[in-house]
Amino acid sequence: MHKLAQLDHKFIWHPFTQMREWLRHEPIVIVRGKGAVIEDVYGNKYLDANASIWTNLHGHNHPKINAAIRRQLSKIAHSSALGLANEPASLLAAKLVAAVNPRSGISNPKLGKVFFSDDGSTAVEVALKLAYEFTRRTRGPRPEPRFISLQNAYHGDTVGAVSLGHIDLFHKPFAGLLFKTDTVMAPYCYRCRFNRAKPERADARDYRKCNWECISKLEQAFARQRKRGNPYAAFVFEPLIQGAAGMIPQPAGWLQRAAEIARGHGALLIADEVMTGFGRCGVPKSEIRTTKSEILFASHHENVQPDFLCLAKGLTGGYLPMAATLTTQAVFDAFLGEYHEFKTFFHGHSYTANQLGAVAALASLEILQSAASARARAQLEQALRHELQNLWALPQVGDIRQVGLIAGIELVRDWRTREPFDLRDRAGWRVCQAMARRGVITRPIGNVVVLMPPYCTTAVQVRKIVRALAQSIREALA
Ligand SMILES: Cc1ncc(COP(=O)(O)O)c(C=O)c1O
Repeated sequence: MHKLAQLDHKFIWHPFTQMREWLRHEPIVIVRGKGAVIEDVYGNKYLDANASIWTNLHGHNHPKINAAIRRQLSKIAHSSALGLANEPASLLAAKLVAAVNPRSGISNPKLGKVFFSDDGSTAVEVALKLAYEFTRRTRGPRPEPRFISLQNAYHGDTVGAVSLGHIDLFHKPFAGLLFKTDTVMAPYCYRCRFNRAKPERADARDYRKCNWECISKLEQAFARQRKRGNPYAAFVFEPLIQGAAGMIPQPAGWLQRAAEIARGHGALLIADEVMTGFGRCGVPKSEIRTTKSEILFASHHENVQPDFLCLAKGLTGGYLPMAATLTTQAVFDAFLGEYHEFKTFFHGHSYTANQLGAVAALASLEILQSAASARARAQLEQALRHELQNLWALPQVGDIRQVGLIAGIELVRDWRTREPFDLRDRAGWRVCQAMARRGVITRPIGNVVVLMPPYCTTAVQVRKIVRALAQSIREALA
């Protein structure tokens, strides 16, 4: 075993990993990367088909982001945001405000205030605490503000974010630590009990037969809570597609309707765009033949502007841990007061507004907003859509769900019955292991294989990824 792998085995505890299992095999130790390819200590090369857990946008070792970090390093790496401002964070905040307000622009933005933190969980945690306190200050402290999020929601691993989560496997063990939130039916057309359509070899959103019962359930949940005299303070959701829930996309129109209902019942909207942000959900049709790249966030694909927008993962192009929670002037104003009134938002992290992270984010945004990037993303989306069609030939492929540059392939025993694999069979895991042997790295969510390549991935590389997946399904599940 390589010396570095031995050190890993001796000292490191990996996230979301059964360590007994981990210790049985020599791990892949990554030492370098370029574009969509990462390389291990032995010189083996792999396509990074999940963009290093959904973070990387433009590829590894990008010359522009590297140069920006180097330039900043020669000045200063970090200074505290508690009591000090800094150059790149100020510039980044202005750029983010412009990017998340594509319609109103920077002069009259709805989301005009940026609170920096470190990762997706803390971005959500900040939104949660701000929404909680804002509600108490505007509606009165009693009854306690209450939150609602979607079935199978995942918003991170800090205690507040876990309280909003509804994946029993991850969240139930910590029930005693959490505060109570409510959950409401989320669309999952492939497995929806209200979908009367028989399985077809197509995305279930396209052939579903239903009466939008998921929307009725949502409406009922909000109405019920209002009747109890404590309308929901906030509705927390991932727009267009739920990630860790199993790459579960919403049918067109769901988001807009859900947002209208929540607003109609007085709830704030908290959009968790930790995964979906920064162009992940594709180039909208209206921009495909233009040089514009204005719609970069999933909420805006359905014309929804939330009250809180949580960003992380792709913010720095996948280089450094940094997050941002954007919110409104009204929320900001609720925390203004004289010193002795103690209306301050008492929350923050040591590395808030980190200067290296901020320059990486500025460089990443500049690349993202170029016409070349929009073109490349549109082409990659098409290449992925084209290649994924080949997977319908496999009986163990039940559903293929693609939203922009995100794809989830749900594995089943037989597509005709939709019968799932028992989680103990580790079907997704075995397929991903077989893919790694073919030079493609990704990670499953239960029985769903995720493909989310960096935007620089070429059509040839996409073909290689999907071929490796098809061969691996045959090898591991036949
Ligand atoms: C939608 C969403 N929110 C929040 C998080 C938490 O982000 P982090 O792992 O950076 O804390 C994740 C992570 O996968 C996520 O997908």
